[in-house]
Amino acid sequence: MHKLFKHITSFIKILLLSILSVFLVSTTNAEQSVEDIIKGRQALFSKNYSTAKRVQSYASNGDFDESIELMLEMSENYKVLIDLFPENTKEGFKTEALPIIWEEKNAFNALMKKASDDMITLASVIEDSDDIRGTLKQLMWSNCKACHSKYRVPH
Ligand code: HEC
Repeated sequence: MHKLFKHITSFIKILLLSILSVFLVSTTNAEQSVEDIIKGRQALFSKNYSTAKRVQSYASNGDFDESIELMLEMSENYKVLIDLFPENTKEGFKTEALPIIWEEKNAFNALMKKASDDMITLASVIEDSDDIRGTLKQLMWSNCKACHSKYRVPH
């Protein structure tokens, strides 16, 4: 009887340990993916910033093919960015995303989509533009500002 009791206690211990480890691994994975998503979107925004500067310099030099290719790349990046703001990524990992994003998710997504669509429009009009700087400002830079002023921690 005593032996059986010992057996059962050790069985329960192992069972509890396994449950605990499964729980720990899954919460670590969830944390990991939150970190991946936040860092992933920050990296993509940074990349778009450096690409935007290259777009500006190519277009100003009349290198339209190069600048158009990068505009379309930025447009695609915005489409990826739309999906990088799930509910569980509101805080942590030095995010500069403001809570209002999730209160106004549709408006936020619409701005992201507009930024993406405007890059495609920009690609189709830049070559014939009489005012390269003004066109870039209107269809590229103004979208950064419009979104940041409302949805990103002020700088
Ligand atoms: C529809 C909204 C939206 C648009 C459009 C947008 N951004 Fe952002 N941007 C954000 C948000 C939100 C963050 C904060 C992300 C975070 O920290 O999780 C951000 C962060 C950034 C960062 C910091 C990334 C880091 O490493 O922390 C840079 C740089 C940036 N954006 C540049 C730009 C530029 C340049 C444009 C336009 C060409 C632009 N963004 C367009 C919403 C936007």
